[in-house]
Amino acid sequence: MKEKVTVPQILLMKQKGEKIVMLTAYDWITARIIDESGIEIILVGDSLGTVIAGYETTLPVTLEEVIYHTRAVSRGRKRALLVADMPFLSYQSSIRDAKISVGRLIKEGGAEAVKLEGGKNMADTIKAIVDMDIPVMGHVGLTPQSIHRMGGYRVQGREERQRERIIEDAFAVEEAGAFSIVLEGIPYDLAATITKDLKIPTIGIGAGVHCDGQVLVIQDLLGITFPPRPKFVKAYVNGGEIIRKAVREFIDDVKAGRFPDEEHSYH
Ligand code: KIV
Repeated sequence: MKEKVTVPQILLMKQKGEKIVMLTAYDWITARIIDESGIEIILVGDSLGTVIAGYETTLPVTLEEVIYHTRAVSRGRKRALLVADMPFLSYQSSIRDAKISVGRLIKEGGAEAVKLEGGKNMADTIKAIVDMDIPVMGHVGLTPQSIHRMGGYRVQGREERQRERIIEDAFAVEEAGAFSIVLEGIPYDLAATITKDLKIPTIGIGAGVHCDGQVLVIQDLLGITFPPRPKFVKAYVNGGEIIRKAVREFIDDVKAGRFPDEEHSYH
């Protein structure tokens, strides 16, 4: 096994021009497989609300749910840096609430860092968490917890005013002490500008190739999703079809009395 990935190593990767790869995971077995495949960061995203729980948005996700999934992932991962997402209302209400939520994600979940959405408006919160010696990953651009303000999952930063705001937000996150930042759903040239100007690594999702790293939701990468599929998603395998085919074969085998056969029976 290559050596354990740490926050200082992630910062060093930007300085060396090495791309950072992050994937989400929500359970032990997936975490173990992607960890053994050599991923640098595993994110227990609040996307678990949409891809695991079947909610329409990430807003209903609770801190308890993120802690439960983070604990499972932490048992499967040995090398990757483990980042837990802070769900809606676990940090917006007050800095004290944010600190308690972070403490629980670290103590009970086994996370090594946390991620939260927001820019200038969250700078004091990020600083307070960093002052607890807990590394923070920022998240600006299309922030899914702001779906109602944005009016849907829309690309952000196409207009000049929005573009400036996203740049200001990214700088505020860096200044507050975050060790990295997710850039989601913004034009690739805006992501390139931010990546060039920030000292901390940018990790893109729907933000083009110029980011310092990339993240995908594991179900998207595996093709275990239902349409519509966002433009930025690349499914590396049609997992949905593979599962359907295997289940159909199992049904046929059982109905025809072909399963269990000799090989799969005890004597
Ligand atoms: O919740 C999540 O999975 C995320 C990533 C898509 C960055 O925030």
